[in-house]
Amino acid sequence: MIPENIKKEYVELKKVIEKYNYYYYVLNNPLISDSDYDKLFNKLIKLEEKFPGLKTPDSPSYRVGGKIINEFKTVQHTTPMLSLDNTYNEEEIIEFINKINKSLNRNNIEYTCELKIDGISISLRYEDGLLTQAITRGNGISGDDVTDNVKTIRSVPLKLNKNINIEVRGEIFMPKKEFLKINEIREDEGLPIFANPRNSTAGTIKLLDTTEVSKRHLDSFIYYILSPENYNLKTQYEALCFLKELGFKINPHTKKVASVEEIIDYWKYWIDNKGKLEYDVDGVVVKINNFEDQRILGNTSRSPRWAIAFKFPAEQAVTKIKDVIFQVGSTGIITPVAIFEPVFLDGSTVQRASLHNFDYIKERDIRINDYVKIEKAGGIIPQIVTVLTEKRNGNEVIIEEPKECPVCGGKVGKINHSEVAIRCLNPLCKAKLKRSLEVWVSRDAMNIQGLGPKLIDRIVEANLIEKISDLYNLDHFKLATLGHGIGPKMISKILKQIEDSKQSGLDKVLYALGIPNVGKKIAKDLAKKFNNIDNLMKAEYDELISIDGIGADIAQSIYDFFRNEYAINIINELKKYGVKLYYESRENDGIFKDMQICVTGELKKMTRGQFKELIEINGGIFKDSVTKKLNLLVVGNNAGSKLEKAKKLGIQILTEDEFFDRYKL
Ligand code: IVH
Repeated sequence: MIPENIKKEYVELKKVIEKYNYYYYVLNNPLISDSDYDKLFNKLIKLEEKFPGLKTPDSPSYRVGGKIINEFKTVQHTTPMLSLDNTYNEEEIIEFINKINKSLNRNNIEYTCELKIDGISISLRYEDGLLTQAITRGNGISGDDVTDNVKTIRSVPLKLNKNINIEVRGEIFMPKKEFLKINEIREDEGLPIFANPRNSTAGTIKLLDTTEVSKRHLDSFIYYILSPENYNLKTQYEALCFLKELGFKINPHTKKVASVEEIIDYWKYWIDNKGKLEYDVDGVVVKINNFEDQRILGNTSRSPRWAIAFKFPAEQAVTKIKDVIFQVGSTGIITPVAIFEPVFLDGSTVQRASLHNFDYIKERDIRINDYVKIEKAGGIIPQIVTVLTEKRNGNEVIIEEPKECPVCGGKVGKINHSEVAIRCLNPLCKAKLKRSLEVWVSRDAMNIQGLGPKLIDRIVEANLIEKISDLYNLDHFKLATLGHGIGPKMISKILKQIEDSKQSGLDKVLYALGIPNVGKKIAKDLAKKFNNIDNLMKAEYDELISIDGIGADIAQSIYDFFRNEYAINIINELKKYGVKLYYESRENDGIFKDMQICVTGELKKMTRGQFKELIEINGGIFKDSVTKKLNLLVVGNNAGSKLEKAKKLGIQILTEDEFFDRYKL
């Protein structure tokens, strides 16, 4: 039985959390600080853990995932999810409007102009105000049930402001910023990058781990209600207002218009301004505002006759490849980059595009002096669409793989055969060191904000640092030798940040080290699993590959990294300088907060000292003896009198395995 006051507290907590969530994610107007929000959220999670019966389908805890999906069920749509006919220029849109005027036999028709969001369409079913099903478009007749994943999208309400049954449709999408971030991580981890935000949305919504989906920060705009007459709605504009009232995120740029000129103006305005939006749009959707008129016009089997997509021109440009340079990244990967004759495209001047790797160049037969057609993937990243081979005149130069590192002249090669990238193999390469330092100081790694790329460049060029660990050997005197623009105040600030960064913890260090194929998530998983760097360094290949999410390549690269003398030396130095090389959970201000925990017998996984450290860094109190106040006794092999005493006192007892399983340590 769950006490009434707890039930009440839970309902209240859900309400406030979702209210803050709504202000943050739908209205873009945060009411409280992140840390206050986290506190409320953690309180909710704790209540749900303590009283599992409490959790309801609208619990904000669904927002953070936590579920592994086996497969997506195929579900039939209530009514087919149609797509839209396209128009591409002013003549075609005028023709569309003329046809409507003719069909309806009048010419004073009102339209809505909406932005055409480049994501994937979704159908959401609510029963009694609760989100019960989210289905992808699929083939239009049936789609995949992706409810668990959609629940992680903060702007999709789990509970509406009215307890009604309703089915709505809209677009889920990945904001450009998120798309860029994910691709950066994927590139670091050696995974193929997504071509545009739409592909990354499609890839994300089909992930089987809802926690991963939650981290991708998808967003939504809803624009359609099935059977709007049930809610007494007469127009699309009213429907959008109703959707807003219910708690959905609707696009703020929708406009009611009454002439084809206004439609064209709206279209032109967004061609010029779409680059400023935080999400990708590929056109305008023009809809007849009045539902009765929509009904009269009806649908074809494929698309409605009352709406049309007015696409933006695919922005492409032709330019010449002046040169190809080679950039050396932190893991030594050498990336060929095409340098163009500058050309204006989609709101900015484009001067270069990554050619990714040498297989990419060979497959497309890209050469220096070639003319190429370029566009921006997802409206952001310049890329070559085609090589205009008909424009070749014999002056083209084949791009050869560098035989040595373009920066340090060191050896280059592949670190394993499955990899397409070639790398500089010299551990002391300055380019690698600079990139490594950039990763090391980045926010997601050791967070040393005072050290930007320019300063890193100067420090490395002045030979103040030869390897990452030397960062912790910098002092006032050394930094002062840089002279120009670097005064004592700035130096003190940087040194303080460097000092503070020592406390970042093992997960951050592992990410910061730039181990090939090890991104943030794997770094954290490793830190949690091995707890300190010594355990990880000793880990055999078999142990590494047995970890969820770690395949052969990743396991091999971790194994190799910790057997590399250069890396071992850096780690020893970091230890010497007092950089924290064990894991400390930051997620839940201590899973053992205020719990008194004692251990008896011999543990398999760690020493008694390490166990004590584990309890303490997670907020618990380590006890040497069993008393009435003890909350938990963990039992290893050959336990003795402490176990007997705990049994007598009715204290919770867990075996070592049960303990690690339960707390996912
Ligand atoms: S209306 C029957 N409105 O574009 C109603 N669609 O190419 C059809 N889309 O499948 C959809 N933004 O995924 C509509 N404001 C918007 C839209 C929009 C994006 C997508 C939608 C549709 C596709 C058609």
